[in-house]
Amino acid sequence: MRATHTTATRRSSIAALAVLPLLALAGCSGGSDAAYPDDTIEIVVPFAAGGPTDTVTRIVADPMGEELGAQVVVQNVEGAGGTVAAGEVAAADPDGYTVLMHHIGMSTAPALYDDLNFDPVEDFAPVGLVTEVPMTIVSRSGLGPSNLEDLVAYLEDERESVTIAHAGVGSASNLCARLLQDAVGVELTEVPYDGTGPAMADLLGGQVDLLCDQTTNTAGQILGGEVDAYAVTTPERVEVLPDVPTTAEAGLPDLEIGVWHALYVPAGTPDEVIAALETALQTALADPAVVDQMAELGIAPVSAADATPEALAERLSEQIALWDDVLSEPGR
Ligand code: MLT
Repeated sequence: MRATHTTATRRSSIAALAVLPLLALAGCSGGSDAAYPDDTIEIVVPFAAGGPTDTVTRIVADPMGEELGAQVVVQNVEGAGGTVAAGEVAAADPDGYTVLMHHIGMSTAPALYDDLNFDPVEDFAPVGLVTEVPMTIVSRSGLGPSNLEDLVAYLEDERESVTIAHAGVGSASNLCARLLQDAVGVELTEVPYDGTGPAMADLLGGQVDLLCDQTTNTAGQILGGEVDAYAVTTPERVEVLPDVPTTAEAGLPDLEIGVWHALYVPAGTPDEVIAALETALQTALADPAVVDQMAELGIAPVSAADATPEALAERLSEQIALWDDVLSEPGR
């Protein structure tokens, strides 16, 4: 995590004076924020390297850095289903050098944790939505069931002898594992990891049976025949996985979930800094190379209209209300 941003130690007063006329011409108010960015920007990923959140972040980090004229690095801060990282970013300096990439977990955390040390709305300023990502229900190769109907029957028979991996309470994979167990009416044995990158490694190694994870982390393995796929959790099939039915088609219409990623900075970050990050995000998402890389993983960048603070603020509050209702239902 970045320490206090010490502009004065990095730039001589002569250099600072030299840029002042340019800043005035550009209509900037002066001060350290007007020079943003003049240092490395860290995007904090709340899960392990190699997983879907990490992958999405690394796809956009370089093009964002090019637009900003700064180095953008990715730092993985694992723990407690993403809440450790969110708490750290909430407490970081609001200077635009510490940015959080989080997903749907930002909206489920308040319903899942009584002792959350951050408020997703009050402690952050939204930058913009990044992607919309379908999830897939997959098993280790050779588990047995050949389609979702068979899998449901298998889970009803085998129950807690079946292991399902996820990335901790608050992760998207944990949410999907909960929804799957509720939809089938069984309790499986949950195996938490620091991220679904390591969870997928164990699924491939046969150490766990099931995983519900984003296509970002499963499309390659499904297409390569390394895992068995039962369904995608979105209303529509996914273009790169045309043979995988939706949960509705395959008999579990109540199991519908789409993951959304978004960028946040600590509350109090200056508006012009947020605007610079927003522009960089929109530029990255419009980059054909980014669009292609995402498409191969079954995911799509959001529109420029959604890569905005306003759209993210709306999505976040709507999703907090939704998941509060769903997750506080009796029996959950
Ligand atoms: C999740 O389940 O929330 C993510 O897949 C975690 C990750 O990015 O590793």
